[in-house]
Amino acid sequence: MVTLALTKGRILRESLPILREAGICPVGDVFSSRKLMFATNIQHLRLLILRGVDVPTYVQFGAADLGITGKDQLLEHGGQGYYEPLDLKIATCRLMTAVLPNVEVRFDRTVVATKYINVARKFYAGLGRQTELIKLYGAMELAPLLDLSDEIVDIVDTGNTLAAHGLVAQKLIANISSRLIVNKLAMKGNFTVVNEIINSIRNVLGSDYEAN
Ligand code: PRP
Repeated sequence: MVTLALTKGRILRESLPILREAGICPVGDVFSSRKLMFATNIQHLRLLILRGVDVPTYVQFGAADLGITGKDQLLEHGGQGYYEPLDLKIATCRLMTAVLPNVEVRFDRTVVATKYINVARKFYAGLGRQTELIKLYGAMELAPLLDLSDEIVDIVDTGNTLAAHGLVAQKLIANISSRLIVNKLAMKGNFTVVNEIINSIRNVLGSDYEAN
């Protein structure tokens, strides 16, 4: 049995049509069901519906052979235990810092609220800035308004959420899109089946989608 872990939400909505075109269809309604695991039309392939943050962990430890999740989650996870063969170029957005306008940057020790603690640590260290990092699990936009932090690191798509809270995007950390990842051992052990799945998705996408 080969297991492909998908990310619920926008990535699921945008990845299912690609999978369908690649000949992979879930049995059952993945959007309305409470189930987290689905059989597919392919006898030896099943799907998991996970939170994006958990997909790299499932694939790293081989609980899933393959996964589709955002590059933001891969950057935060660190990339151990899997290859990243394909950039699906879906669910695109930007990982950015954001601040309240007209607030002076504190170079001595900037307080940054984010769920991307590892990404933020690396990014600010690269700028040579001292930071205190505060881990949040959502609603990052509130942190500067309530003096919890000076800055946030978060996903920006339309920019509407930042604007609704009077924040402005400042520095681009990374352009984000969804990636196909593959457990390193699964590439060896289940090579034929796993490779068939990768190739069927690759054939739908075309040659321009190799991850870099
Ligand atoms: C993300 C992100 C921002 C918002 C940005 O949240 O955390 O809040 O989208 O999108 P925008 O620029 O189009 O306004 P999401 O809705 O994915 O929920 P989350 O807080 O669970 O990440």
